[in-house]
Amino acid sequence: MTAQLIDGNALARTIRAEVTERAAALTARGRQPGLAVILVGEDPASQVYVKHKVNDCETSGVRSVLDRYPATFSEAELLARIEVLNADPSIHGILVQMPLPKHIDPHKVIETISPLKDVDGFHVQSAGALMVGQPGFRPCTPYGCMKLIETTGISLKGKNAVVIGRSNTVGKPMALLLLQANATVTVCHSGTADIGLYTRQADVVVAAVGKRMVLTADMVKPGAVVIDVGMNRDEAGKLCGDVDFAGVSQVAGWITPVPGGVGPMTRAMLLVNTLEAAERAPTVVHSV
Ligand code: GUN
Repeated sequence: MTAQLIDGNALARTIRAEVTERAAALTARGRQPGLAVILVGEDPASQVYVKHKVNDCETSGVRSVLDRYPATFSEAELLARIEVLNADPSIHGILVQMPLPKHIDPHKVIETISPLKDVDGFHVQSAGALMVGQPGFRPCTPYGCMKLIETTGISLKGKNAVVIGRSNTVGKPMALLLLQANATVTVCHSGTADIGLYTRQADVVVAAVGKRMVLTADMVKPGAVVIDVGMNRDEAGKLCGDVDFAGVSQVAGWITPVPGGVGPMTRAMLLVNTLEAAERAPTVVHSV
């Protein structure tokens, strides 16, 4: 292996320590940051993700409220619950775990969350703010990827960056964040005829497709920074990303592992967004 490993676990630990300190300071001033996590249904992966998010809160001094509902929970009931949380001054962030059962429209759900509490950064207002370069919540995964790239010390200004994948949660916001950092950005997707044509020119590649072996060694420019957002299982059931790690790590300059790369950073940035939501929340004036 010639590439240097970008350690997401270590960076996430550092960020969590900062959040813990700021959360304690805020709590001492009478405002403990609070995150509401809503899980509808029994999706096994979602249950694990949610458990991690709640544990992270606990270890960082962020109060969490976990609402679990059966898969039969109606859309109207879910929207009503979100409205209650929107109005609750002790809750600064609201996260509805995706995917939702088929009978619930995820767009409707996301748009019901107050943009002031949209710590996932999925609301149209957050997406719009990112698009025009205004302050707002950044989606946790691409936000975490930017922090991982920062640790390499490589400036993105004037660099070629390729994002593989165009999801609303990762690919598109990732491209906008890289653009904001003055990279020249290309977005490849399932309709791209020859992804390697673009990635071979790239100083930075972010793979966010959800499919194994999307990026192989022959597609990577020597010395490039490779960020692997994928979370897949190989034939043996072992966790792996979208990148052929064994091959690409022989060519790249920097690479994130799976697990231990982007995953812990997504969770860390959720804490950052929640803390910042709490820091920015309007002071509640109690009438007597
Ligand atoms: N499902 C998988 N990843 C995420 C995430 O980052 N946020 C939410 N709300 N659901 C998810």
